[in-house]
Amino acid sequence: MGPSGVGKSFLAAGLCADAIHKGYKAYFRTMEEIISVLKMRDFTRTASADYKRLTKANLIVIDDIMLFPVQKEQAVNLFNFINQLYENTSFVITTNKMPADWAKMLDDEVLATALLGRLLFRCEIINLSGKSYRMKNRKAFFEQEN
Ligand SMILES: Nc1ncnc2c1ncn2[C@@H]1O[C@H](COP(=O)(O)OP(=O)(O)O)[C@@H](O)[C@H]1O
Ligand SMILES: [Mg+2]
Repeated sequence: MGPSGVGKSFLAAGLCADAIHKGYKAYFRTMEEIISVLKMRDFTRTASADYKRLTKANLIVIDDIMLFPVQKEQAVNLFNFINQLYENTSFVITTNKMPADWAKMLDDEVLATALLGRLLFRCEIINLSGKSYRMKNRKAFFEQEN
């Protein structure tokens, strides 16, 4: 959890890579990708295959959860997906929204609370703060140029 550029995706990708090296079935997806797979799984073979892969995963990284507002139907799909898997699958999620703001993104407080309950169940929260690495990298780039 933390603002943009502090290394959330970097850390999540590293954890995912470590899990793969240890022989686990681990997948890194953005929330947009997950939502698209859930929407298209009955219509395209690619989405259906990816859905099956995800349901058999040991670890799923959902990057940038709740970055954008989600339509009700998609929010329900996401809830059902996580509800079906959370007892047996590990999740790493990254977000720049405080859980209290999730209800706004989902436009539904009950659904947001239910989703949070599943995701925060036995979870560890890593709060990242500080300056954006992106801006730091940019600054170094300009200093080099001058
Ligand atoms: N610990 C780190 N040391 C150096 N660079 C980092 C570190 N963590 C992240 N970065 C770099 O900073 C940039 C932003 O990181 P990212 O993980 O995309 O941030 P976030 O997902 O929090 O917005 C990326 O280019 C990433 O490679
Ligand atoms: Mg990110």
